[in-house]
Amino acid sequence: MRTQVGIVGAGPAGLLLSHLLALAGIDSVVLETRSRAYVEQRVRAGVLEHPTVELLREVGLAERLDREGMPHEGVSLRFEGEDHRIDFADLVGRGITVYGQQEVVKDLIAARLRDGGDLRFEVADVTLDGLADTPVIAYTDADGQRHELRCDVVAGCDGFHGISRGAYAPEMFEREYPYAWLGILAKAAPTHHELVYANHDRGFALYSMRSPEITRLYLQVPPDTDVHDWSDARIWDELGTRLAAEGFTLNEGPVLEKGVTGMRSVVAEPMRHGRLFLAGDAAHIVPPTGAKGMNLAIADVRVLADALTAFLARGDERGVDAYSDTCLRRVWRAEHFSWWMTSMLHVAPDGDAFTRRLQLSQLRYTVSSRAAATSLAENYTGLPYGGVR
Ligand code: FAD
Ligand code: DHB
Repeated sequence: MRTQVGIVGAGPAGLLLSHLLALAGIDSVVLETRSRAYVEQRVRAGVLEHPTVELLREVGLAERLDREGMPHEGVSLRFEGEDHRIDFADLVGRGITVYGQQEVVKDLIAARLRDGGDLRFEVADVTLDGLADTPVIAYTDADGQRHELRCDVVAGCDGFHGISRGAYAPEMFEREYPYAWLGILAKAAPTHHELVYANHDRGFALYSMRSPEITRLYLQVPPDTDVHDWSDARIWDELGTRLAAEGFTLNEGPVLEKGVTGMRSVVAEPMRHGRLFLAGDAAHIVPPTGAKGMNLAIADVRVLADALTAFLARGDERGVDAYSDTCLRRVWRAEHFSWWMTSMLHVAPDGDAFTRRLQLSQLRYTVSSRAAATSLAENYTGLPYGGVR
């Protein structure tokens, strides 16, 4: 079996890459270890940057997003019990859209299947060979049959725990954080129309949503937290304390989903090895505070689709040669922003009073200086593609 681009992983990166390549007339096959139902139900990110939404519109993937997505023109930073709104529309003239990652994944899978795309779920034991010039991906299908897929190039879109990054020895840049997020999805109507990032002496909390009936909420917890130690009642209690502010009420409701996510910053450099190109979480992860993970994955494949099209259709290698450097500029901007938001909003377990005062000073400056608020708004809503030097 042969294809032009062998794509490992059917997350937002792999699926969108397959769609963009198909629009340019390039064949691909997507291999995914999980089932279709699993990837369509996996609850993860929820914030789409402005450039992400524009791209999805441009490539015909925004019909449901435009109907069901929730456009937001600002967020609140809440500290010392008071809300401070960052008005994106006023500061940078654009906003974000709240639309669950699993909805993006459902839309992408539906579009690929409608267009005759080749998606293979529930594969196992994926291996990569011949990456210098003649790549071969071997895998076992759902019926236990072993296959070889010969391709011109491989796109490693298999997330942080995938196998692609291990096919070479990129230089790794990492930062661990001494906290994690406990996230819940609750059947409770949002009581506030925008996201709230709350800094409290007991730790960070985030108020978000998925629809007019569903809220998405997060609490800073220690990294070794066992989710079973957190009953629904304890979660609501803690959320109530950390999110408390005058005039704010938190609607409680049945908890539909509950999980703990660790927080790390990791970048692998370079993002290319011979004919293997990494994209998305396979190459880099950010702590979730800046809502950048999925947006970065999408930004990578936008660059990769153009580079591979020029290479495979016209033999033009300039794009593939520049791929890693081009992506890493945006990646490091998002790494910095995510680290900055994380450090400003979480309570360091080993933090002293000096650190705490610096943090409050940074928060006060961010909400009182138009220049500082604009910087947050510009990064959060997403810098234009190609807009990072
Ligand atoms: P993924 O979505 O991880 O997709 C990779 C795919 O590859 C997966 O479907 C996986 O099953 C598959 N795969 C893995 N190994 C193999 C293999 N060997 N062969 C074939 N397929 C393979 N970001 C935010 O902004 N906000 C959040 O709240 C948030 N929450 C998150 C919670 C969790 C638990 C995780 C893990 C991430 C979260 N993120 C969040 C980050 C965001 O979801 C990711 O940045 C985004 O999913 C990246 O997309 P991707 O396509 O690069 O990788
Ligand atoms: C959500 C997740 C984030 O990481 C974030 O910064 C904002 C919102 C969410 O899941 O809605």
